[in-house]
Amino acid sequence: MNITQEKIDRLTFLKKLGLSGASLMAVYCGVTMTSCTNEGDIAGPLPTGGITFDLTAAANAALNTKGGYVVDRTNNIVVAYTSDGTYVAVTLICSHEGQKQITYATNKFYCTAHGATFDNSGKGTNSNGSAGLKTYTVTKNGSILTVS
Ligand code: FES
Repeated sequence: MNITQEKIDRLTFLKKLGLSGASLMAVYCGVTMTSCTNEGDIAGPLPTGGITFDLTAAANAALNTKGGYVVDRTNNIVVAYTSDGTYVAVTLICSHEGQKQITYATNKFYCTAHGATFDNSGKGTNSNGSAGLKTYTVTKNGSILTVS
């Protein structure tokens, strides 16, 4: 049995005890604090050379309009085109509880899970976003964006 399976089995066990919601998480996280972090969801470095986005591709069309954004679920990144005409990229993984629910609107990043907000530099702008978001460097060469 590997570590992931052990964590699932522990959670399943607690659920079978009749615990749910906050009481379940209180007991589950109390067993070991490392169980509250999904190690596979921590934002890590991107592949060498970065990730490219072709602005002429239909899938990236939103990046040609200020305020638009694209989510890359393969690499867990969100790329946005800000209202001042710069490109910014952050991790898709929220620093609050690790949900992959970061979106972009009205010049800020927003997590739809519990409402964490972050400015264009990744700095948290409310309590749930206080830990900030990992940001990446974005370079533009012609119609190609590279996130690294
Ligand atoms: S996981 Fe994003 S606000 Fe809670």
